[in-house]
Amino acid sequence: MKKVILITGISSGFGKEMARVLVEKGHTVYGTIRSKCDVAEGVKTIYMELADGESIKKAISHIHDIEGHIDVLINNAGMHSGGPIEDSPEDVFRKQMDINFHGWVNTIKNVVPFMRKQNSGLIINISSIGALTGLPFQGVYTSAKFAIEGLSYALRLELKQFNIHVVVVNPGDFKTRNVETREISVADNSVYKKQFKKSLAIIEKEEGNGKDPEILANKIARIIEKKNPKYRYLVGSFIQKSAVCFKRIMPERIFTHLISKYYGM
Ligand SMILES: NC(=O)c1ccc[n+]([C@@H]2O[C@H](COP(=O)([O-])OP(=O)(O)OC[C@H]3O[C@@H](n4cnc5c(N)ncnc54)[C@H](OP(=O)(O)O)[C@@H]3O)[C@@H](O)[C@H]2O)c1
Repeated sequence: MKKVILITGISSGFGKEMARVLVEKGHTVYGTIRSKCDVAEGVKTIYMELADGESIKKAISHIHDIEGHIDVLINNAGMHSGGPIEDSPEDVFRKQMDINFHGWVNTIKNVVPFMRKQNSGLIINISSIGALTGLPFQGVYTSAKFAIEGLSYALRLELKQFNIHVVVVNPGDFKTRNVETREISVADNSVYKKQFKKSLAIIEKEEGNGKDPEILANKIARIIEKKNPKYRYLVGSFIQKSAVCFKRIMPERIFTHLISKYYGM
Protein backbone atom coordinates (compact mmCIF):
# COMPACT_ATOMS: atom_id res chain seq x y z
CA MET A 1 0.00 0.00 0.00
CA LYS A 2 1.28 3.46 -0.87
CA LYS A 3 1.95 5.64 2.16
CA VAL A 4 2.49 9.26 3.12
CA ILE A 5 5.98 9.36 4.60
CA LEU A 6 7.82 12.14 6.41
CA ILE A 7 11.61 11.87 6.59
CA THR A 8 13.67 14.43 8.50
CA GLY A 9 16.99 15.55 7.00
CA ILE A 10 17.05 14.57 3.34
CA SER A 11 19.81 16.85 2.06
CA SER A 12 22.41 14.07 2.28
CA GLY A 13 23.29 10.61 3.60
CA PHE A 14 20.58 8.21 4.75
CA GLY A 15 17.80 10.78 4.38
CA LYS A 16 18.58 11.50 0.75
CA GLU A 17 18.76 7.79 -0.14
CA MET A 18 15.62 6.87 1.82
CA ALA A 19 13.68 9.64 0.07
CA ARG A 20 14.86 8.45 -3.34
CA VAL A 21 14.15 4.76 -2.71
CA LEU A 22 10.74 5.38 -1.13
CA VAL A 23 9.53 7.73 -3.86
CA GLU A 24 10.64 5.17 -6.46
CA LYS A 25 8.44 2.63 -4.65
CA GLY A 26 5.48 4.93 -5.28
CA HIS A 27 5.09 6.42 -1.80
CA THR A 28 4.32 10.10 -1.22
CA VAL A 29 7.51 11.35 0.38
CA TYR A 30 8.01 14.61 2.25
CA GLY A 31 11.57 15.33 3.29
CA THR A 32 12.76 18.12 5.53
CA ILE A 33 15.56 20.45 4.50
CA ARG A 34 17.17 23.58 5.91
CA SER A 35 18.51 25.03 2.69
CA LYS A 36 18.22 24.45 -1.04
CA CYS A 37 19.61 21.09 -2.11
CA ASP A 38 19.29 18.40 -4.78
CA VAL A 39 16.72 15.72 -4.11
CA ALA A 40 15.35 12.87 -6.21
CA GLU A 41 12.51 13.68 -8.59
CA GLY A 42 9.11 13.43 -6.96
CA VAL A 43 10.30 14.06 -3.40
CA LYS A 44 8.49 16.99 -1.78
CA THR A 45 10.69 19.16 0.39
CA ILE A 46 9.67 21.18 3.39
CA TYR A 47 11.67 23.43 5.71
CA MET A 48 12.38 22.16 9.22
CA GLU A 49 15.04 23.12 11.73
CA LEU A 50 15.12 20.65 14.61
CA ALA A 51 16.21 23.34 17.06
CA ASP A 52 13.12 25.40 16.18
CA GLY A 53 9.90 23.93 17.55
CA GLU A 54 7.70 26.28 15.48
CA SER A 55 9.22 25.06 12.22
CA ILE A 56 8.53 21.45 13.25
CA LYS A 57 4.89 22.20 14.06
CA LYS A 58 4.40 24.19 10.85
CA ALA A 59 5.93 21.52 8.60
CA ILE A 60 3.88 18.68 10.08
CA SER A 61 0.54 20.48 10.05
CA HIS A 62 1.22 21.60 6.47
CA ILE A 63 1.71 17.98 5.36
CA HIS A 64 -1.40 16.88 7.23
CA ASP A 65 -3.47 19.73 5.72
CA ILE A 66 -2.48 18.61 2.23
CA GLU A 67 -2.56 14.82 2.61
CA GLY A 68 -5.12 14.34 5.38
CA HIS A 69 -2.92 11.69 7.00
CA ILE A 70 0.71 10.86 7.82
CA ASP A 71 1.46 7.14 7.79
CA VAL A 72 5.18 6.99 8.51
CA LEU A 73 7.59 9.27 10.34
CA ILE A 74 11.30 8.58 9.93
CA ASN A 75 13.36 10.49 12.50
CA ASN A 76 16.72 10.73 10.82
CA ALA A 77 18.14 14.30 10.82
CA GLY A 78 20.91 15.00 13.22
CA MET A 79 24.39 16.27 13.92
CA HIS A 80 27.40 14.59 15.46
CA SER A 81 29.71 15.92 18.19
CA GLY A 82 32.92 14.06 18.94
CA GLY A 83 35.72 14.38 21.44
CA PRO A 84 36.64 13.49 25.01
CA ILE A 85 33.80 14.05 27.46
CA GLU A 86 36.03 16.07 29.78
CA ASP A 87 36.92 18.44 26.93
CA SER A 88 33.34 18.86 25.67
CA PRO A 89 31.73 22.01 27.11
CA GLU A 90 28.17 22.04 28.41
CA ASP A 91 26.91 23.98 25.39
CA VAL A 92 28.20 21.21 23.10
CA PHE A 93 26.19 18.63 25.07
CA ARG A 94 23.16 20.93 25.05
CA LYS A 95 23.34 21.50 21.28
CA GLN A 96 23.64 17.76 20.64
CA MET A 97 20.66 17.02 22.88
CA ASP A 98 18.61 19.93 21.49
CA ILE A 99 18.90 18.65 17.95
CA ASN A 100 19.23 14.87 18.21
CA PHE A 101 16.92 14.38 21.17
CA HIS A 102 14.55 17.31 21.86
CA GLY A 103 14.10 17.93 18.13
CA TRP A 104 13.04 14.30 17.68
CA VAL A 105 10.74 14.40 20.71
CA ASN A 106 9.11 17.52 19.28
CA THR A 107 8.66 15.92 15.88
CA ILE A 108 7.11 12.82 17.44
CA LYS A 109 4.78 14.89 19.63
CA ASN A 110 3.50 16.77 16.58
CA VAL A 111 2.90 13.66 14.49
CA VAL A 112 1.40 11.35 17.12
CA PRO A 113 -1.97 13.18 17.50
CA PHE A 114 -2.61 12.68 13.77
CA MET A 115 -1.56 9.02 13.86
CA ARG A 116 -3.63 8.46 16.99
CA LYS A 117 -6.75 9.86 15.33
CA GLN A 118 -6.23 7.71 12.24
CA ASN A 119 -5.55 4.72 14.52
CA SER A 120 -2.47 3.70 12.55
CA GLY A 121 1.11 4.75 12.02
CA LEU A 122 4.75 3.82 12.03
CA ILE A 123 7.55 5.78 13.68
CA ILE A 124 11.09 4.77 12.75
CA ASN A 125 13.90 6.19 14.85
CA ILE A 126 17.36 5.98 13.31
CA SER A 127 19.53 5.24 16.32
CA SER A 128 23.03 3.72 16.07
CA ILE A 129 24.89 0.54 16.91
CA GLY A 130 26.98 2.85 19.12
CA ALA A 131 23.85 3.37 21.24
CA LEU A 132 23.96 -0.33 22.12
CA THR A 133 27.70 -0.72 22.67
CA GLY A 134 29.01 2.71 23.71
CA LEU A 135 31.99 4.20 21.87
CA PRO A 136 35.08 6.04 23.17
CA PHE A 137 35.20 9.77 22.38
CA GLN A 138 31.68 9.63 20.98
CA GLY A 139 30.07 10.17 24.38
CA VAL A 140 28.28 13.40 23.45
CA TYR A 141 26.72 11.89 20.34
CA THR A 142 25.94 8.49 21.84
CA SER A 143 24.35 10.10 24.93
CA ALA A 144 21.68 11.52 22.63
CA LYS A 145 21.27 8.15 20.89
CA PHE A 146 20.98 6.34 24.25
CA ALA A 147 18.27 8.88 25.13
CA ILE A 148 16.47 8.00 21.89
CA GLU A 149 16.67 4.33 22.89
CA GLY A 150 14.96 5.03 26.22
CA LEU A 151 12.36 7.25 24.58
CA SER A 152 11.58 4.70 21.86
CA TYR A 153 11.06 1.91 24.32
CA ALA A 154 8.52 3.87 26.36
CA LEU A 155 6.86 5.27 23.25
CA ARG A 156 6.41 1.80 21.83
CA LEU A 157 4.54 0.72 24.96
CA GLU A 158 2.38 3.84 25.04
CA LEU A 159 1.41 3.85 21.37
CA LYS A 160 0.68 0.17 20.89
CA GLN A 161 -2.96 0.69 21.95
CA PHE A 162 -3.41 3.15 19.04
CA ASN A 163 -2.01 0.73 16.47
CA ILE A 164 1.10 2.88 16.08
CA HIS A 165 4.30 0.87 15.68
CA VAL A 166 7.63 2.19 16.94
CA VAL A 167 10.74 0.77 15.30
CA VAL A 168 14.37 1.46 16.13
CA VAL A 169 16.98 1.01 13.42
CA ASN A 170 20.60 0.78 14.55
CA PRO A 171 23.05 1.40 11.72
CA GLY A 172 26.76 0.59 11.93
CA ASP A 173 29.18 2.65 9.85
CA PHE A 174 27.90 4.00 6.56
CA LYS A 175 29.53 6.38 4.15
CA THR A 176 27.62 9.64 4.54
CA ARG A 177 28.46 13.30 5.14
CA ASN A 178 28.58 12.46 8.85
CA VAL A 179 32.40 12.15 8.66
CA GLU A 180 32.88 15.66 7.24
CA THR A 181 30.42 17.48 9.47
CA ARG A 182 31.33 15.99 12.87
CA GLU A 183 31.96 18.84 15.33
CA ILE A 184 34.99 18.04 17.44
CA SER A 185 35.85 19.35 20.91
CA VAL A 186 39.34 18.66 22.15
CA ALA A 187 41.29 20.97 24.43
CA ASP A 188 44.70 22.24 23.21
CA ASN A 189 46.39 20.76 26.26
CA SER A 190 44.08 17.74 26.42
CA VAL A 191 45.34 14.73 28.35
CA TYR A 192 43.33 12.61 25.87
CA LYS A 193 44.89 14.12 22.72
CA LYS A 194 47.05 11.13 21.73
CA GLN A 195 44.39 8.50 22.45
CA PHE A 196 41.69 10.58 20.82
CA LYS A 197 43.72 11.03 17.64
CA LYS A 198 44.31 7.28 17.45
CA SER A 199 40.67 6.37 18.11
CA LEU A 200 39.36 9.02 15.74
CA ALA A 201 41.60 7.70 12.95
CA ILE A 202 40.10 4.22 13.48
CA ILE A 203 36.54 5.59 13.58
CA GLU A 204 37.06 7.73 10.47
CA LYS A 205 38.66 4.83 8.60
CA GLU A 206 35.63 2.66 9.38
CA GLU A 207 33.24 5.42 8.34
CA GLY A 208 35.25 6.06 5.17
CA ASN A 209 35.05 2.37 4.30
CA GLY A 210 31.44 2.31 5.45
CA LYS A 211 28.59 0.70 3.58
CA ASP A 212 26.51 2.45 0.94
CA PRO A 213 23.50 4.28 2.53
CA GLU A 214 21.33 2.72 -0.18
CA ILE A 215 21.55 -0.56 1.80
CA LEU A 216 19.89 1.10 4.77
CA ALA A 217 17.33 2.83 2.53
CA ASN A 218 16.29 -0.51 1.03
CA LYS A 219 15.99 -2.02 4.49
CA ILE A 220 13.73 0.85 5.56
CA ALA A 221 11.57 0.31 2.47
CA ARG A 222 11.13 -3.35 3.48
CA ILE A 223 10.30 -2.43 7.09
CA ILE A 224 7.59 -0.03 5.89
CA GLU A 225 5.96 -2.80 3.88
CA LYS A 226 5.73 -5.13 6.90
CA LYS A 227 2.38 -5.52 8.63
CA ASN A 228 4.03 -6.24 11.96
CA PRO A 229 7.59 -4.89 11.96
CA LYS A 230 10.04 -5.99 14.65
CA TYR A 231 11.00 -3.45 17.31
CA ARG A 232 14.70 -3.34 16.38
CA TYR A 233 16.74 -3.79 13.22
CA LEU A 234 20.55 -3.79 13.20
CA VAL A 235 22.05 -2.77 9.85
CA GLY A 236 25.82 -2.96 9.51
CA SER A 237 28.83 -5.17 9.02
CA PHE A 238 29.05 -8.62 10.62
CA ILE A 239 31.56 -7.39 13.20
CA GLN A 240 29.44 -4.36 14.14
CA LYS A 241 26.34 -6.50 14.61
CA SER A 242 28.37 -9.10 16.52
CA ALA A 243 29.58 -6.39 18.93
CA VAL A 244 25.96 -5.87 20.03
CA CYS A 245 25.58 -9.59 20.60
CA PHE A 246 28.90 -9.81 22.53
CA LYS A 247 27.87 -6.89 24.72
CA ARG A 248 24.73 -8.80 25.68
CA ILE A 249 26.40 -12.09 26.50
CA MET A 250 29.91 -11.20 27.70
CA PRO A 251 30.85 -10.05 31.17
CA GLU A 252 31.05 -6.22 31.00
CA ARG A 253 34.75 -6.27 31.99
CA ILE A 254 35.71 -8.42 29.01
CA PHE A 255 33.59 -6.42 26.58
CA THR A 256 35.13 -3.14 27.83
CA HIS A 257 38.60 -4.61 27.39
CA LEU A 258 37.84 -5.73 23.82
CA ILE A 259 36.27 -2.47 22.72
CA SER A 260 39.12 -0.45 24.27
CA LYS A 261 41.65 -2.54 22.36
CA TYR A 262 39.65 -2.22 19.15
CA TYR A 263 39.75 1.57 19.38
CA GLY A 264 43.46 1.64 20.19
CA MET A 265 43.14 2.67 23.82
N1 LIG B 1 26.45 7.49 8.82
C1 LIG B 1 26.55 6.62 9.77
O1 LIG B 1 27.48 5.79 9.77
C2 LIG B 1 25.50 6.57 10.85
C3 LIG B 1 25.57 5.52 11.77
C4 LIG B 1 24.61 5.44 12.77
C5 LIG B 1 23.59 6.36 12.83
N2 LIG B 1 23.56 7.41 11.94
C6 LIG B 1 22.45 8.36 12.07
O2 LIG B 1 21.80 8.51 10.83
C7 LIG B 1 21.17 9.78 10.76
C8 LIG B 1 21.51 10.44 9.44
O3 LIG B 1 22.88 10.74 9.41
P1 LIG B 1 23.79 10.66 8.10
O4 LIG B 1 24.92 9.76 8.42
O5 LIG B 1 22.97 10.44 6.91
O6 LIG B 1 24.42 12.14 8.15
P2 LIG B 1 24.36 13.37 7.15
O7 LIG B 1 24.68 12.94 5.76
O8 LIG B 1 25.24 14.39 7.79
O9 LIG B 1 22.84 13.86 7.20
C9 LIG B 1 22.32 14.55 8.29
C10 LIG B 1 21.03 15.23 7.90
O10 LIG B 1 20.48 15.86 9.05
C11 LIG B 1 20.19 17.23 8.74
N3 LIG B 1 20.34 18.08 9.92
C12 LIG B 1 21.45 18.27 10.67
N4 LIG B 1 21.19 19.13 11.67
C13 LIG B 1 19.89 19.51 11.53
C14 LIG B 1 19.04 20.39 12.25
N5 LIG B 1 19.48 21.10 13.30
N6 LIG B 1 17.76 20.53 11.85
C15 LIG B 1 17.28 19.85 10.77
N7 LIG B 1 18.05 19.01 10.04
C16 LIG B 1 19.34 18.84 10.42
C17 LIG B 1 21.21 17.61 7.67
O11 LIG B 1 20.75 18.74 6.97
P3 LIG B 1 21.72 19.98 6.55
O12 LIG B 1 22.24 19.66 5.17
O13 LIG B 1 20.82 21.15 6.56
O14 LIG B 1 22.81 20.07 7.56
C18 LIG B 1 21.21 16.33 6.83
O15 LIG B 1 20.13 16.32 5.95
C19 LIG B 1 21.62 10.56 11.99
O16 LIG B 1 20.63 10.50 12.99
C20 LIG B 1 22.87 9.78 12.42
O17 LIG B 1 23.13 9.94 13.78
C21 LIG B 1 24.50 7.53 10.95
